[in-house]
Amino acid sequence: MSNAPHPITREVLARLEACPDPRLRQVMTSLVRHLHDFVRDVAPGEDEWRAAVDFLTATGQRCDDRRQEFILLSDTLGVTMLVDALAHPKPPGATESTIFGPFYAGEQPTSPLGAAIARGEPGAALVRVAGRVRTVDGAPVAGATVEVWQAAPNGLYDTQDPAQPRGNLRGTFRPGDDGAYAFRTLLPAPYPIPDDGPVGQLLRATGRHPFRPAHIHFLAHAPGYERLVTHAFLAGSEYLDSDTVFGVKPSLVVAPAPDPETGEPTLAFDLVLSPRRAPTG
Ligand code: BEZ
Ligand code: FE
Repeated sequence: MSNAPHPITREVLARLEACPDPRLRQVMTSLVRHLHDFVRDVAPGEDEWRAAVDFLTATGQRCDDRRQEFILLSDTLGVTMLVDALAHPKPPGATESTIFGPFYAGEQPTSPLGAAIARGEPGAALVRVAGRVRTVDGAPVAGATVEVWQAAPNGLYDTQDPAQPRGNLRGTFRPGDDGAYAFRTLLPAPYPIPDDGPVGQLLRATGRHPFRPAHIHFLAHAPGYERLVTHAFLAGSEYLDSDTVFGVKPSLVVAPAPDPETGEPTLAFDLVLSPRRAPTG
């Protein structure tokens, strides 16, 4: 393929020069350049181009207020994590961010520190999850809110599973001035992302599995600090090295260990926030 732009590319780019919004002009110019390069690289036949249009159409048709197939497509192509990496650079020592995912169900009623978020299986063995919301220097962050959500050991969120009570394995905690939070829960298991739509078809066609390793979602926020969206991944879980949405970062992988004082099995996971950045532009 010659590096010189095709005459059609040149003509489209020239037309975009009239775009009055400079950022939109920049974005559209780059999009057209990359898209035209992609088309020249792949040289699709009309049947392949039509199949691509049909795929995108089917992806849109699987979007409603409960299912967002385009975000799932972005997730499985690594775009969501790339956007996150560029949008949320973290100072050394701050907890790294990862993907938000589709299963957040809004802020839950506040639970007392240490409460169990497992509501469906009384008597099941629970693990304690505990840590501090703090700065990179170790100072506690006051006024924080910690929201958590996870799938049950059967791999389903409460919103996917009529057998679970609503709000199962979800919680909101408000640490005191020492920043300490704790809750008790069931150990999560790996699970497949929703793969009964076009994204699942694409995963299968490209020889990929739909699984995520076992994890607990965290959303932590406090006045003056960047909102932190992250997970604690369970050490030893299957799929840690092949998360279908590319969300795993080694610093987020933790193993349960006996609490040094009580012996209770505990996943220690501090939430280290970075100060809010001054708005740019
Ligand atoms: C999740 O972890 O809940 C998730 C993230 C991305 C896509 C699907 C599920
Ligand atoms: Fe999840």
